[in-house]
Amino acid sequence: MPITPTPKIWMNGALVDWDTAQIHVLTHSLHYGMGVFEGIRAYETDRGPAVFRLTEHIERLHRSAAILMMDIPYSVDELVEATKDTVRSTGLPGCYIRPIAYYGYGEMGLNTLPCKVDVAIACWPWGAYLGDDAVTKGVRMKISSWVRHNHNTMPPAAKTTGNYVNSSLAKVEALKAGYDEAIMLNPQGLVSECTGENIFVSRHGRLITPPLFAGALEGITQDTVATIGRDLGFEVVEGELARSDLYIADEMFVCGTAAEVSAVNSVDDRALPCPGPMTQAIAAEYAKTVRGQVDKYQSWCEHVS
Ligand SMILES: Cc1ncc(COP(=O)(O)O)c(C=O)c1O
Repeated sequence: MPITPTPKIWMNGALVDWDTAQIHVLTHSLHYGMGVFEGIRAYETDRGPAVFRLTEHIERLHRSAAILMMDIPYSVDELVEATKDTVRSTGLPGCYIRPIAYYGYGEMGLNTLPCKVDVAIACWPWGAYLGDDAVTKGVRMKISSWVRHNHNTMPPAAKTTGNYVNSSLAKVEALKAGYDEAIMLNPQGLVSECTGENIFVSRHGRLITPPLFAGALEGITQDTVATIGRDLGFEVVEGELARSDLYIADEMFVCGTAAEVSAVNSVDDRALPCPGPMTQAIAAEYAKTVRGQVDKYQSWCEHVS
């Protein structure tokens, strides 16, 4: 998706002009995939822009870095403030936010211990990742021929740049085959997640979502949706899902910061009821929640001013 530039990008402690936020071709992480990043959204609320669950996203950035043994030279609080400054500098009512920490220029080779860590935060306007009518019409899913990496090869609990080679291979395969998105199975053959979203499947009245041990990222939207679902009176559990659970699901949706809540209309050309009643109820509540319109979830909306 094309990027629309905004005035400033935060780099290593200062807001710099968008066009000057550049890196050297010998930047370490460009070569070895050892970066960690986040995808966050700010939404328009009646009190101005608010970043949804900002602190938890930055905490996950720090956890991803800890898995890589990377020392981010800014605390969670400093990066929360930096993110708010960057959002304010855009003047936009809402935007997508991409913080990234990476090994910079100066060292080469696989020993990352001497490498310096650079940090940047960029914001730009970004629409619905899986399409504007993903909630109403749903998306077509394909189970990927690519297997999600396991915890002993590339830790899927860390949101690292290198992990997304696996996701991109699956995404492109699915798109070229005429589908909207890919579902990744783990090396045991069980469902883990999509290339950039967590999965919820309804079977026998229960919503089931694969957890971290299945090879899924611990999604912040996954947690939001589970909370909303339970508050709406649904039973929501973490659990293992086989491929067949998807084909015979009562309903299914995927969720993530970029994709928000997107219904699934088919898996490998097996049609699913879409959008199902749980999907519709949760998607509607999610849309209000992120915009600060649900009192009990107000604390998730971190206002920038
Ligand atoms: C692989 C993967 N799984 C799940 C998610 C959903 O995570 P979140 O809801 O925190 O955006 C994302 C998005 O960051 C992702 O890239």
